[in-house]
Amino acid sequence: MTGVAELPLPETYRLIELGEIDSTNREALRRAEDGAGEGTVVLAAAQTAGRGRKGARWISPPGNLYASLIVEPRAGGAVGQLAFVAAVAAGEAVAELTPRAGDLRFKWPNDLLFGARKLAGILIEGGPRGKYVVGIGVNIKSAPRSPEIEATSLMEGVGVDVEPRVLLAKFCRHFNEWRHLWQRRGFAPVREAWLARAAGIGEAIDVRLPVETVRGVFAGLSGDGALLLDLPGGGRRVITAGAVYFAGQEAKTCC
Ligand code: BTN
Repeated sequence: MTGVAELPLPETYRLIELGEIDSTNREALRRAEDGAGEGTVVLAAAQTAGRGRKGARWISPPGNLYASLIVEPRAGGAVGQLAFVAAVAAGEAVAELTPRAGDLRFKWPNDLLFGARKLAGILIEGGPRGKYVVGIGVNIKSAPRSPEIEATSLMEGVGVDVEPRVLLAKFCRHFNEWRHLWQRRGFAPVREAWLARAAGIGEAIDVRLPVETVRGVFAGLSGDGALLLDLPGGGRRVITAGAVYFAGQEAKTCC
């Protein structure tokens, strides 16, 4: 197991370490309401009401990473890009732990896969006064089973064990670097890093939208992070929100 000597967070970060809690995102939002700001990090050993994207539950037994960071981005309008900043940071943090980093992939917009299975998820929620909470869950010891998501864990899929706090420190370091690069140079370097590990580019995918499912070829990312989908009859859709299904996954992967 990787040692806790690697724990230090970036200088401006403050760690709040808790046992079991409802949801680190909810706790970070409560603390943001009470005045906590940029760099506050909430880490919990387990969650009783972990939240996933699109209202899903995030099953949160002890042993995995559950953490939420408060971020106050300067470029409020482009906040959707934070999801990619967080995904790239998560990918780099996990990549440090395995020689099989080539198998790490991003599923649009911000899931981290190992092979075809989900290893980590990110949920960004808006808080008070321009603050946002970036929540990250990484399966370390276990991959909660669900009929909807084919998941894996660092131990099961990658053969790596790590303390959640150590993985969090790695994530925060990469997140801090990418977050500042994003603010200085815009989305282009983040987009490039995301594309370097993107799953399914050039392949047929289905994208489930609120009122329809669209089939096409995943052509890449727009300059601001939208999914570009080439349609069978010609033409291209620019999709800003939806759930991606790779070939053969229709019945299993929902978010
Ligand atoms: C997803 O559906 O892929 C996003 C999952 C995000 C889960 C993390 S765990 C820590 C933080 N607290 C929550 O309640 N959710 C996020």
